[in-house]
Amino acid sequence: MKNIIVANWKLNPLTKEESIKLFDAIENGVDNNNSDIVICPPFIFLSVLGESKNIKLGAQNCFWEKKGAFTGEISPEMLKDLGCEFVIIGHSERRQYFNETDEVINKKLKAAIGAGLKPILCVGETESQREVGETDEVIAKQIIEGLTGILEEEFKNIIIAYEPVWAIGTGNACEAEEANRMAETIRKVVAKTYSKKVSENLPILYGGSVNSDNSKKYINQTEINGFLVGGASLKAEEFLKIINDAR
Ligand code: PGA
Repeated sequence: MKNIIVANWKLNPLTKEESIKLFDAIENGVDNNNSDIVICPPFIFLSVLGESKNIKLGAQNCFWEKKGAFTGEISPEMLKDLGCEFVIIGHSERRQYFNETDEVINKKLKAAIGAGLKPILCVGETESQREVGETDEVIAKQIIEGLTGILEEEFKNIIIAYEPVWAIGTGNACEAEEANRMAETIRKVVAKTYSKKVSENLPILYGGSVNSDNSKKYINQTEINGFLVGGASLKAEEFLKIINDAR
């Protein structure tokens, strides 16, 4: 399976010029034909950056309706029209700051698939959930509820990112072996609900304090097929090292 390396720029950078500069620097330094490289900038930079030969575009979120009276929202169809191929759904910051529930995430996921986008469904436990031993249960619930009503054939477009909340932006990355165990757990849940074949072909990414020092450890695991990178994707040189080391 091809690796997928996703940059989640979150609410960065501040200006159009900076986003073009960062995008161009990454684009010009990619030397990896074995991975799909996806950049997810803020919505407003999507049309500025456009499509490129080395880099695919993704969004960080979308709404579940196509059009209409929904002030401030962006639909999957609009993203598709701008050349987006991917969309991150259910990132923990959306769950935490915008109260996105598994039900809302499921609606967005279905809408994204309906528009022909590839959703990257994010799941992950908090530190306190891990401490009390609820990790596997929390992940299973997020997977089952997030994917409710999804048909087996729709899995060809779905990607799952295991992102423990305590590892995001903290510098405290999850041990690679544990991230691999969680990816295995995710495959088991999917195999039970759908089929072994679906679970084996499902790309699973790891996200949470990935950097150029630790990225190789994840890529060398059996069940991990790439990364979702936040902070380290805002520094061209650092992100390029992650990309080119994954060849
Ligand atoms: P981080 O963020 O790499 O800065 O930890 C990852 C993410 O939120 O997707």
